[in-house]
Amino acid sequence: MTNLGFPENYVEILPEVRAFLQSDLKLHIGGRWVPSISGETFETHDPSSGRLLARVPSAQADDVDAAVRAARATFDSGAWHLKLSPSDRGRLIWRLADLIETHAPILAQLDSLDNGKPVKKAQQVDAPLSAEHFRYYAGWPSKIEGATIPVNTPGTFNYTVREPVGVCGLIVPWNYPLLMAAWKIAPALAAGNCIILKPAEQTPLSALYLARLFEEAGFPAGVFNVLTGFGETAGAALVAHPGVDKIGFTGSASVARTILRNSADTLKRVSLELGGKSPNIIFADADLEQAVIGATWAIFGNNGQSCTAGSRLYIQRSIFDRVLTGMSDQAANIRVGMGMQTDQPDLGPVVSMEQMHTIMGYIEDGRSSGGQAVVGGQRIGGNLANGYFIEPTIFTGVQDSMKIVREEIFGPVVCAMPFDDADEVLHRANETPYGLAAGLWTRDLQTAHRFAARMQAGTIWINTWGDTDAASPFGGYKQSGHGREMGKEALDLYSEVKSVWIRVG
Ligand code: NAI
Ligand code: MG
Repeated sequence: MTNLGFPENYVEILPEVRAFLQSDLKLHIGGRWVPSISGETFETHDPSSGRLLARVPSAQADDVDAAVRAARATFDSGAWHLKLSPSDRGRLIWRLADLIETHAPILAQLDSLDNGKPVKKAQQVDAPLSAEHFRYYAGWPSKIEGATIPVNTPGTFNYTVREPVGVCGLIVPWNYPLLMAAWKIAPALAAGNCIILKPAEQTPLSALYLARLFEEAGFPAGVFNVLTGFGETAGAALVAHPGVDKIGFTGSASVARTILRNSADTLKRVSLELGGKSPNIIFADADLEQAVIGATWAIFGNNGQSCTAGSRLYIQRSIFDRVLTGMSDQAANIRVGMGMQTDQPDLGPVVSMEQMHTIMGYIEDGRSSGGQAVVGGQRIGGNLANGYFIEPTIFTGVQDSMKIVREEIFGPVVCAMPFDDADEVLHRANETPYGLAAGLWTRDLQTAHRFAARMQAGTIWINTWGDTDAASPFGGYKQSGHGREMGKEALDLYSEVKSVWIRVG
């Protein structure tokens, strides 16, 4: 069996990846590698080929309890936030960034195999952005400051200090396995917390590999713990555990509601980064060439499996046909294939059979309610029949009220709809329970600023789509979440402010 029995057209599996997949994968708790107490495991598969990749431990409530005790002990000992200087903490975080960079080819293969995304994208986008995220936050431990407050009481001195929240349970999704973990881990570390990471059950591998890099970097044991497991077991136990001070979550709105309910008894802090149905508006005066490419990748980037996917496309009526023709040409040229194939595709499969069925269900629903898939709309078979591949799909003939226009699909499906004037489209764009991102394409400065001010979303992209940066805050209005990740705002999610009063007079 060559290349571990993966399809013949796969790039060579790196020896480190090969060894990792063939090793006895364990939970990482308190600096040690341990099996789950119950001995239960689950399988993770390659969505490009359906092939079994590895078995990983399925953490249950007692494993969560062990991880919480380990993280708690490290936190209470002050080994991370008190005994190390801010500069030393920054140096360790920076070292981790360096290690992510040097191990990028390995991390990229793990994420590509687990998630299906093209390995080249994982290596050129996910891994460097993750490293960059740690670099940005490596600068923060030495800059998290309090204030002296001019209070009214005579003879009294009042100041604030920022302290870590404590033990943070970080629950992340499968769409950018390494990067979504980095978005949460880096600010939590910079603020001085101890962490328990629970990767998505679809993509547990890079999180376990990351724990090795934490060890290699020299972090104190117990600062970073990883529990692989399911949401309903490991995730739910983390949320309910009284020893967890904070939950940082990225995923679906429905699970977010469950998390809020289940965190009520302990009243722990919860921050949420959820989905969207982001409107993307093209005005007739836009640079159409740029807008067509932008709108195409706003939805099809990462196969539509992005919380910010530009899935509701509003095109001014006079240019509707031109834009649609342009996008159809673009979409027809998108090469879909296996994430690890030597001849790298633009897009891989969707993450799982379950997601594929969900997405195909939305496509069927769009058709049966009167919409037309003018491009795509089918599962891809042939030599891709063992994986979960869906054609990039453009729907027309749909109305704002339809399910396909209202609900997050999280797949390569865009609804293109004409509009007539600015007030109308602004109203329609905001008519959604979500508010993660919104975009517009125009050369008119007034329109740009007016829409930037009036669209209800945490991120507005004008003549561009999808830009993010570790330094710039990111998060949702309305049902797209609570709190802001990235930038200095993320430090608020992972710290408490203490107000100290001293009688001096
Ligand atoms: P999900 O919300 O179930 O999974 C996200 C994470 O939450 C995973 O780590 C999962 O194990 C965990 N989780 C699940 N149930 C939990 C519970 N009761 N308590 C604690 N943690 C729990 O997302 P899923 O089912 O994988 O995807 C379904 C839909 O969610 C997608 O189609 C998409 O619409 C949305 N989604 C949005 C994401 C985003 O980036 N905003 C990312 C992933 C999914
Ligand atoms: Mg789920």
